[in-house]
Amino acid sequence: MHINRPRRLRRTPALRRMVCETVLSVDDLIAPLFVVAGSDIVRPIRSMPGHAQLSVDQLDPEINEIAELRIPAVLLFGIPGHKDPIGSSGWDPEGPVPQAIRAIRRLAPQLTIIADVCVCEYTSHGHCGILADTPGSGDVLNDPTLEILARCAVAYADAGADIVAPSAMMDGQVAAIRAALDAAGHTQVAILSYAAKFASAFYGPFREAAESTPAFGDRRAYQMDPANGREALREVELDVAEGADMIMVKPAGAYLDIISTVRQRYHLPLAAYQVSGEYAMIKAAAQLGWLDERRAALESLIAIRRAGADMIITYFAKDAARWIVPALRGDSQGRVKVEDGR
Ligand code: PBG
Repeated sequence: MHINRPRRLRRTPALRRMVCETVLSVDDLIAPLFVVAGSDIVRPIRSMPGHAQLSVDQLDPEINEIAELRIPAVLLFGIPGHKDPIGSSGWDPEGPVPQAIRAIRRLAPQLTIIADVCVCEYTSHGHCGILADTPGSGDVLNDPTLEILARCAVAYADAGADIVAPSAMMDGQVAAIRAALDAAGHTQVAILSYAAKFASAFYGPFREAAESTPAFGDRRAYQMDPANGREALREVELDVAEGADMIMVKPAGAYLDIISTVRQRYHLPLAAYQVSGEYAMIKAAAQLGWLDERRAALESLIAIRRAGADMIITYFAKDAARWIVPALRGDSQGRVKVEDGR
């Protein structure tokens, strides 16, 4: 008897399509953008080929492309003209992010606009909050920081953001932001919480892109230890209790186990952030001719979906959408299985 022969179902492309368990759709993608203060700026990011810091007046082509590809959402980061110890440009209504939100809203009203809420791009020291007085300690004060994160969130909601995404890893940030949004009348603005964000080496290229490298110390006193899985669940539990509408695990590739467990235990929409280093690794290897970029990128994305993420924030968003969409012509669903088109 020829039983236990899984290869029978791998024999033809049509059979493989039929038994494929996971699909990647354009609907799952979120495109990050770096908006810089000033005008006439298109400043390529060396370690993130294909990405650039853009001033608000240079956003249109990028937004049009994203909208034409039917990517449903963008995630905005700001690089301000002025930094100070408390990151006050972060809540300036004329800062790069509020300006970008208003511009995108006008240009592509159908796009979901997510604003990252953190102050590391806005503080002179590059930490994600207000520092204690001890010089050089890098000790971020939790509760005073909540107040400034809430101000940033309200400024982005005032400008028209659909979703705010707190990434500072301060305790209580979701509750503080929810209260501030509600008090300002923004009861319809949702919170996507970076619930389990790890102190990761894979953020390296982002820090160049966002000019947010800490001037001293590191983020291990607020971001999580990569060794800790149970603690990640505790973080998620707290954020759910504080009123998060969606949760996120970050980075993605090295944390698929966390994504999988969170998916099983919680019922909120789950996002995963394929971070700058994950993107840079594939890009660099592809440039050297060591990896097939498209296959490696799509495989990494399908793995994140298979682990259980509903949405993926990825610097491959436009590429992936392009790889998916042509394969889709004639297909009704707007979805692709990774094998298609190769
Ligand atoms: C800011 C923030 C970081 C990222 C997103 N928001 C960097 C950090 O914590 O140092 C990283 C994103 C990426 O690497 O793509 N708090």
